[in-house]
Amino acid sequence: VNEVIECERILADKLQSNVLTVEQIGNHVAQSGGKRLRPLLVSLGARCISNDYDPKRIHNIGACVEMIHMATLIHDDVIDGAPTRRGRPTPHQVWGTTEAILTGDVLLAKAMEILAADGDLDIIRSISSAVVDLAEGEVRELETRGNFDLPETEHLNILQRKTATFMACCCMAGAIVAGAKPELRHALWSYGNSLGMAFQIADDLLDFLGDDAKTGKVRATDFRDGCATLPLILLRNELAEDESTFVRNKFGNGMHDSDLETISKWMEEKGAFAKSRSAAAAYAQSSLDALDAVPDSQAKKLLASLAEFVVQREA
Ligand code: FPP
Ligand code: MG
Repeated sequence: VNEVIECERILADKLQSNVLTVEQIGNHVAQSGGKRLRPLLVSLGARCISNDYDPKRIHNIGACVEMIHMATLIHDDVIDGAPTRRGRPTPHQVWGTTEAILTGDVLLAKAMEILAADGDLDIIRSISSAVVDLAEGEVRELETRGNFDLPETEHLNILQRKTATFMACCCMAGAIVAGAKPELRHALWSYGNSLGMAFQIADDLLDFLGDDAKTGKVRATDFRDGCATLPLILLRNELAEDESTFVRNKFGNGMHDSDLETISKWMEEKGAFAKSRSAAAAYAQSSLDALDAVPDSQAKKLLASLAEFVVQREA
């Protein structure tokens, strides 16, 4: 708990800016009830390796990865034209699009400053290449928008880039600070990677099934925007021709809530939700398997419970 408070203090400190808009947007995003999952991964990644490391480095890197995450969400909401996140108006709605984009850039640059100050080259290399993956993953996702027939492997590759690689790096960065040998660095990377895949598949399921009041987002945004995610990909082959035409016509085109009910009902009846849940559960299991190489500790137990949490969460 102290870890979280300390990381939070550093985050608040780093978000200070003598440019008022930058500071306001930073605080708005920081105070919107994020789960702080990535800083937690950094911290647990370290603690499950050893107790003998410099906690300040963990807090700084935790603040760094949260700032990168905040930057990607600000940019993502501009790209998606999302009006709300976590139940609050998005920065581009309140302060304007240009202001939101530039503040995202400031946060990203500040995160790089933190990494440079820490100075560990392996961490700098892995996080900077994860940021490349994040941005390229988002571009790939944009390029596939509107493609109803997006192959499952391509879709999974996008999830890998936009979510899993970064979570893998968070876990591994913690392990590196705690002095992990290559084999254990790899185990933590692998854990974070599978956790990320499970997390994103669960997120995409919540897009269809979540309660708007809990997720703070509009339901079926992905589908409405022409973004094919696993529930749709796994539904496609189960549809009769007329059903398929119906779904294809609604995909990426404005639809009524009654259409959403029909499509969700098919996803339920034809097993697309169940199969997506199994896919998330299988990744969660792989993340647990990766922990086999890690010695038992309280931190390892927490990582294991995170793997359960990400597939069961409601927001
Ligand atoms: C959220 O996914 C978006 C991401 C995980 C990646 C976004 C990446 C960028 C905008 C490009 C890189 C930007 C920087 C600053 C490096 P989602 O749309 O599935 O989640 P959501 O439902 O929460 O919006
Ligand atoms: Mg989005």
